[in-house]
Amino acid sequence: MEHFYPEVYISEEDLSLRIAEIGKAITDDFQGEEVTIVCVLKGAFMFCSDLLKKIDLPVKLDFIQLSSYGEGTVSSGNVKIEMDVSDSLKNQNVIIVEDIIDTGLTMTTLKEMFEVRKPKSVKVASLLFKPSRNTHPVDIDYLGFEIEDKFVVGYGLDYAGRFRELPYVGILNAGN
Ligand code: IMP
Ligand code: MG
Repeated sequence: MEHFYPEVYISEEDLSLRIAEIGKAITDDFQGEEVTIVCVLKGAFMFCSDLLKKIDLPVKLDFIQLSSYGEGTVSSGNVKIEMDVSDSLKNQNVIIVEDIIDTGLTMTTLKEMFEVRKPKSVKVASLLFKPSRNTHPVDIDYLGFEIEDKFVVGYGLDYAGRFRELPYVGILNAGN
């Protein structure tokens, strides 16, 4: 099979520098507290892994997997929990870690689902934000990069299940 490399959009070094800053911000904001990191699978796995190493606090790690119906490069509207977190989240400082916020539908839905579970607080950390298609505004407490309206892959993000392993965020041009 041909091994295709998408064009670099955010380099490994830029990711690493920004993620260290986010880890420091979280550490400063939650001094004296414990945080529960909820990694949104699959896309956030790499960001989450690197971010955790930069958070100097007592941390619990949990995972959730969601699906929004349909395939392709545009989110389709209906969000469902495929695999839930194992913890109740009650009285915890939850930080949802996501790869990208596009329309915002996934994150607004997830935040609503979590609020019902009576956590102490719920914050959002997203590596990327695409403002151009944001129909469901959500506060992003910790943001890596705001990006143009382009379909990006790599560093956890996929196109049809591929490119998650790339150490950088790349652009998939039409025709690739
Ligand atoms: P939202 O619900 O529209 O905010 O979509 C968020 C989800 O859509 C993300 O968690 C990604 O799985 C997917 N997504 C949106 N834009 C991109 C992209 O450029 N590359 C890869 N996945 C994307
Ligand atoms: Mg996702």
